[in-house]
Amino acid sequence: MASVDKEKIRTKGKPRTFYKGENPKKQKGRGKLYGIGIGPGDPELLTIKACKILKKVDKVFAPRSSILAESLALRIIGDTVPKSKIRTIVFPMTKEKKRLKEFWEKAAKKVYKELSRGNDIAFITIGDPFIYSTYMYLLRYIKKLDKSIDICTIPGVSVVNAIASLCNVPLVEAEEKFAVLPLPNKMSQLKNVLNQFDTVVLLKIGKGLKRLVRFLEKEGYDGSVYFAKRIGRPEEVVAHNLSQINLNKKTLGYMSTMIIRSKKRKKKMNPALPKM
Ligand SMILES: C[S@@+](CC[C@H](N)C(=O)[O-])C[C@H]1O[C@@H](n2cnc3c(N)ncnc32)[C@H](O)[C@@H]1O
Repeated sequence: MASVDKEKIRTKGKPRTFYKGENPKKQKGRGKLYGIGIGPGDPELLTIKACKILKKVDKVFAPRSSILAESLALRIIGDTVPKSKIRTIVFPMTKEKKRLKEFWEKAAKKVYKELSRGNDIAFITIGDPFIYSTYMYLLRYIKKLDKSIDICTIPGVSVVNAIASLCNVPLVEAEEKFAVLPLPNKMSQLKNVLNQFDTVVLLKIGKGLKRLVRFLEKEGYDGSVYFAKRIGRPEEVVAHNLSQINLNKKTLGYMSTMIIRSKKRKKKMNPALPKM
């Protein structure tokens, strides 16, 4: 392939930039796919780059969990994009692999159809696109349809960063290590992680919140836990220790995140440092 260092090609009247390693002949006529991280909930955490791209693309695809469910992602981008440009894709909340595969394949075809028409597409995703997001699966299936699609991923503020800032709690300092994981099925698995890492950030807590809180109480973690639900949204809930978590609210675990500072960490901290 000839050197294509920043060669410009016209697609639907728009100049496109191609970088070394890309094949402009293959790309001709097809739109570009942007995977955009839109942050955890506060529209002010949308990056300038995300806004610029959302405004310039031809169509914006947003995930939602059912036809009736409102897309949280769409609430975050608000009026940044005119409604006429928005399309939603259903990604059901299921772990059934066969069913999910069907939805991902269907979604990829829907997005690819637009790209084939020469339209530039943005697929928005809550937080960062490469931390537990549907975007990663969509990418795989789009690449299966066409490996040569021009893809650009824009990072977003993850809920991992958002909860630390909301609670003004450091994730790691000096030689410390932190782990990000979905709430494990077995609390023994969480216990192992807490033994290996100084800070643990738990996502996908859902209906496991009560079980988690009981375990942490038993392990004596009361003062080292930070919990937040729907960060950045008007309905946000924050707890700065275990006893502030209201377990009477059945749905509290959904769209919630927790920081646990391991007991091991406390032992390692320089006692001369003032407490955070
Ligand atoms: C599929 S993951 C998405 C993570 C996202 N890509 C990120 O980088 O933040 C969904 C999980 O993220 C967490 N989450 C997402 N948005 C949140 C928010 N606004 N407040 C609290 N937790 C949130 C919840 O644990 C939820 O189960």
